[in-house]
Amino acid sequence: MADTPILVTAALPYANGPLHIGHIAGAYLPPDLYVRYQRLKGRDIVFICGSDEHGAAVFMQAMKEGVEPQAIVDRYHEQIQSVFEGLGIAFDYYGRTTSDTHRDTSQAFFRTLEGARIFNRKTQQQLFDPEAGLFLADRFVRGTCPVCGYEDAYGDQCENCGSTLSPSELIDPRSAVSGAEPETRETTHWYLPLGNIQPKLEAWIATKTDWKPNVRGQVGSWFNDGLSDRAMTRDLPWGVPVPESVDGDVEGKVLYVWFDAPIGYISATKEWAAEQGDPELWRRYWQIHENGTTPDLLHFIGKDNIVFHTLIFPALLMAHNEVDADGPQWTLPANVPANEFLNLEGKKLSTSKGWAVWVHEALEVFAPDVLRYGLAVALPETKDTDFSWADFQARVNGELADVLGNFVNRALSFAAQFAEGKVPQFIDPNDDDRAVLDALTEFPERIGAAYEQFRMREAVQETMALARLGNKYFNDAEPWHTRKTDPQACANTIHVALQLCASLSVLMDPILPHGAERLRAMLDLEGVRSSEPGGTEAPIMWDDAGFRLLSSGDLLGEPAILFEKIADETVEAQRALLEERAAASEAAAEISAEPDVAPYAPLADTITFDDFTKLDFRSGKVLAAEPHPKADKLLRMDIDLGFEQRQVLAGVRGHVEPDELVGRNVIVVANLAPRTIRGLESQGMLLFAENRDGKFLPVFTEAEPGSTVK
Ligand code: 2FM
Ligand code: ZN
Repeated sequence: MADTPILVTAALPYANGPLHIGHIAGAYLPPDLYVRYQRLKGRDIVFICGSDEHGAAVFMQAMKEGVEPQAIVDRYHEQIQSVFEGLGIAFDYYGRTTSDTHRDTSQAFFRTLEGARIFNRKTQQQLFDPEAGLFLADRFVRGTCPVCGYEDAYGDQCENCGSTLSPSELIDPRSAVSGAEPETRETTHWYLPLGNIQPKLEAWIATKTDWKPNVRGQVGSWFNDGLSDRAMTRDLPWGVPVPESVDGDVEGKVLYVWFDAPIGYISATKEWAAEQGDPELWRRYWQIHENGTTPDLLHFIGKDNIVFHTLIFPALLMAHNEVDADGPQWTLPANVPANEFLNLEGKKLSTSKGWAVWVHEALEVFAPDVLRYGLAVALPETKDTDFSWADFQARVNGELADVLGNFVNRALSFAAQFAEGKVPQFIDPNDDDRAVLDALTEFPERIGAAYEQFRMREAVQETMALARLGNKYFNDAEPWHTRKTDPQACANTIHVALQLCASLSVLMDPILPHGAERLRAMLDLEGVRSSEPGGTEAPIMWDDAGFRLLSSGDLLGEPAILFEKIADETVEAQRALLEERAAASEAAAEISAEPDVAPYAPLADTITFDDFTKLDFRSGKVLAAEPHPKADKLLRMDIDLGFEQRQVLAGVRGHVEPDELVGRNVIVVANLAPRTIRGLESQGMLLFAENRDGKFLPVFTEAEPGSTVK
């Protein structure tokens, strides 16, 4: 229904790294195209996104860098937000999940479900890092893969052989945080009983016959396998705390990041409403109205997020609706137009392998519209697609510049040169003029239909089809001839071509918002509604673009090049950069694959100076050294302390050969109480240094026997 409010969300990006082109093509450009189109249609639409700032990955990144998690998310929140701005992804509101509104909203949601005993509590054994004092998510346990022997497998998966694992299967498991051997401890978590909710979800999904086949297919296969219950809490020092009012031990527990993140869409809409000066306005987009109007909730995501948006979040909303049946009811997603993945130059995008194009860097080289176009034509809507620099250059040069840019340039330059920079009179048009204007009337609906059905690539093609039509019309009309032979025919051609340019400036706006604005300036066309948030009340909208927007006699602005071509060197430099990065990360991976050096031993407890002075170290000469007759690891030595001779035992067999010691002066703890080991008395102790690899090395001195060492 035309006046149904629409809420569009784009997956909240994790604020623990920069965005690459795969993110943009997957979850951000498609909704931006859709929303800009709907704004031009005059629809009541709000576009929401924000940074996903919780989760174990953020926490781990902070540990790795030795900073607070807040510092990590502050850094990337800023960077991500400015990339979106640079690219013209025009959210109505970009929030963050560390906000107070979000904490309160997600805690209240949890409390409501918990109060109605929706969750099942389960106590289970989980690995715990005794050194870091942390429970370990599966991902943070490393060890040897029981299948292929790879020594650096994750607790949930071996990257070498692809086996799915559980941490308990790993051989020699260790914590990825501290390297310590994990212990097993008991912990309790709150589970969403998805198994019980499955029938309701199935009945609901069955009504979604218009959803994309890739989304329905994935959901269907999870139903076939049977949904398992999912823990909605975690033991982690970073996240939204499980509310204290919940009965049970919630100490150190936070909400699972996939519980709180989708609620982030709600929190961000609340913050947007407050910013509009109408704090309750968010309800219009999230809750079923009293008259039964149900807002359209659309989640744009990448395919790795399908389960959370089609099953888990809807299950939470459904449960909340049941618990609070007399209260306002949440709308459920009307559609989840998930995209597949974008590959890069024939290979999977990979941050760790350096195989990625970072958007903040690309924006330093390419204009935002050029990037938008290059990505829009390669959107992975129905299957994985490939982005290559060669295709990018070909599409930008061959389509944006040669088709769209060229048409606009010819029309405007001709008008500047031969029509005094005005829109010429349109008198006695011929069949071709009329046919083109007739054809124009169908474009807004045809392009619009593609957007409405989330077929963004088709919308791009249809938009370019209008520019192609313009070029063909201009070529066939040959105004450079008619200028001399039939001046009115020439004027009509220029008139029609300028009208097509004006319509293009509206219809290309979702894809190329910056170019559209420049084109409107060249045409001196005012009164077009903005596709930016909170657009003006300007009267010219999408459907008007099917008709003549310019009047004869209107003065035009200055013509200029709309889109520059991309030079060969520019794309070659991008390809070289990619190869360089990939080679560098391969080299780095090889270095880090070399045997790990154990961490430095932790410092012992502090002692006082008095404690230290109690120790009497002396230089002593090793007179004899031999294996202890009854202990494999011990050496027996005779040591000359100058003033007396001692027998000393040391557990260093295998580390040092007796011959290496004999005749050398070593350091002896001379006032240590004697101890008998396997029948022999040790009358002191020798100092050895222990390397990080566990090898003992003697500490020699030049000082004569009996000297004190301080
Ligand atoms: O996959 C991701 O990048 C997640 N941060 C997406 C979250 S979407 C949502 F539910 F907030
Ligand atoms: Zn393996």
